[in-house]
Amino acid sequence: MNSPANITDPLVLFMPSGKRGRFPVGTPVLDAARQLGVYVESVCGGRATCGRCQIEVQEGNFAKHKIVSSNDHISAKGPKEERYERVRGLPEGRRLSCSAQILGDLVVDVPQDTVINAQVVRKAAVDRHIERNPAIQLCYVEVEQPDMHKPLGDLDRLKAVLEKDWGWKDLLIVPHLIPEVQGILRKGNWGVTAAIHRDMDSSRPFIIGLWPDLKNEAYGIACDIGSTTIAMHLVSLLSGRIVASSGTSNPQIRFGEDLMSRVSYVMMNPDGREAMTKAVREAVNTLIGKVCEEGGVDRHDILDMVFVANPIMHHLFLGIDPTELGQAPFALAVSGALQYWAHEIDIDVNRGGRVYLLPCIAGHVGADAAGATLSEGPYRQDKMMLLVDVGTNAEIVLGNKDRVVAASSPTGPAFEGAEISSGQRAAPGAIERVRIDPETLEPKYRVIGVDKWSDEEGFEEDAKATGVTGICGSAIIEVVAEMYLSGVISEDGVVDGSLAERSPRIIQNGRTFSYLLRDGEPRITVTQNDVRAIQLAKAALYAGVKLLMEKQGVETVDTIRFAGAFGSFIDPKYAMVLGLIPDCDLAEVKAVGNAAGTGALMALLNRDHRREIEKEVGRIEKIETALEPHFQQLFIDAMALPNKVDPFTKLAEQVKLPPRKMLSDEAAGGGDGAPRRRSREERAARRRG
Ligand code: FES
Repeated sequence: MNSPANITDPLVLFMPSGKRGRFPVGTPVLDAARQLGVYVESVCGGRATCGRCQIEVQEGNFAKHKIVSSNDHISAKGPKEERYERVRGLPEGRRLSCSAQILGDLVVDVPQDTVINAQVVRKAAVDRHIERNPAIQLCYVEVEQPDMHKPLGDLDRLKAVLEKDWGWKDLLIVPHLIPEVQGILRKGNWGVTAAIHRDMDSSRPFIIGLWPDLKNEAYGIACDIGSTTIAMHLVSLLSGRIVASSGTSNPQIRFGEDLMSRVSYVMMNPDGREAMTKAVREAVNTLIGKVCEEGGVDRHDILDMVFVANPIMHHLFLGIDPTELGQAPFALAVSGALQYWAHEIDIDVNRGGRVYLLPCIAGHVGADAAGATLSEGPYRQDKMMLLVDVGTNAEIVLGNKDRVVAASSPTGPAFEGAEISSGQRAAPGAIERVRIDPETLEPKYRVIGVDKWSDEEGFEEDAKATGVTGICGSAIIEVVAEMYLSGVISEDGVVDGSLAERSPRIIQNGRTFSYLLRDGEPRITVTQNDVRAIQLAKAALYAGVKLLMEKQGVETVDTIRFAGAFGSFIDPKYAMVLGLIPDCDLAEVKAVGNAAGTGALMALLNRDHRREIEKEVGRIEKIETALEPHFQQLFIDAMALPNKVDPFTKLAEQVKLPPRKMLSDEAAGGGDGAPRRRSREERAARRRG
């Protein structure tokens, strides 16, 4: 027991947490970290054998903190640490905090290997550290050998030493380990490593794994189950390092492209739910195999997993019938966070492996939106932050530290290239960028897989390998926005047929006109119906956003985050010209990649983040757009480019918007076109058709 610190004791500051305190000379740095609640890994319990407790002393005069820190203020390496260095090696400047003792003022860096960079496009995220506090801890102990005079069982002596050395009280053990305890203890010559799982401080800790000798690695999985793609990180729970990341397409696509058609499939087929649950679990297991192979990891060393998903994927993954989510009032079977044993949901990892699912926010705003919310943290900001995940069903979160509101909007699949005459998924050969000369109305474009623009010399030659096959989602946004900026379409989205006189790019189809983007094989045009489909999708999203802005009582937002793959490729300028997102300083619009997956990673590596998002989801106000009478009007206003009533003054300062031009709208097809969630009967009829 250390004596209490006094004012003359050395001052120690831990980075990056910034926690600080005074400790008597001679205190091991690891003990100081523990007392301050700074998470420093330790498996061997201070025996200087695991090497997990490494720290670095930062040298220099830290005037702001009034600390002069030096390697002279820490004890020299003792025999145990020297032995570790000899046998296992220690990087330059690193020390074992269990052995190194405090001699004077110190600034101590706890190296965090967790840097979120894989598959995250945002530059700022590269520097983001997740302070670790995982739900799993590996604890090495040396168990007292049996004695005829003490009848305590082997397992009971194991529990006793785990309490004595590590402070674990009231330990439970997974039943399948009980018959193995004696063999493992003897194999390890009474030295064993136990994996302890404790998620909530209030819950009893569990021994979920046991290995002979020192077990010095444990892994976790963070996974986002999307309707189209399943994305996964394999992470070291001890260092936080991302070992491998991968993705696969969701095999449920064969049951239906979008979410609602999958709900219909369940309704129409007695075995539908079971088949889809099986398909997604198999895909997750296959993907675990893939990341393990890539990282050279045994899947049985995976002890903890965190999943996020939209509500329908969440339910299907867990084997819950999602039918109720297909109709008002869109009731979730369960909205709170969930915990499972991996084997209960057929996930093939360590038999004691645990699963945590983030809470869902509402019937159409799922655990994926909760993950993105945890990652981007609107509730941690003074600024009014808009977070949108654009998919077939856009999930929208708007708020700041005072209040957060959320909703979803049925945007449909137009942004993914479906319902567009020349639309396709992003793949080599797809047009991804478009510019239209406002004078000549001539286009130029770029395709995925080719560096040159279409008007550059050698483009046709370079594009031979991929061909030019269609328009992907990001280009659909651009081409419609460019058509508007160049005057090809009016603010109401009508293709101006009178321009056919001066440009062969404007071609007539019956009563409407199209814009010819590429004359060749295949011929790629943007038709009036294509423009209309994009208007419907963007109006649905914007109306949802606007509804939330009205709830918040704001006219503009301060900052916008685009989550999801789609957001990574669209140019914020064009998204705003189209009126997909509200007026905002363009510098404040950022794509954040798979923010839902980043949120899952945060919850995997630090259980405090689980509590944080559980609490925040409880505070988020859910708005059901279908129940808001005002939604229809907002939707109609949002059909115009960028908007019928909203001024977009900030955008106008940055982009020259064309003067208003009103044209008759024969192509609109009548009605306001406002989206709605289809009834069960309609969906069933569509499937039958
Ligand atoms: Fe294991 Fe320090 S705690 S080496």
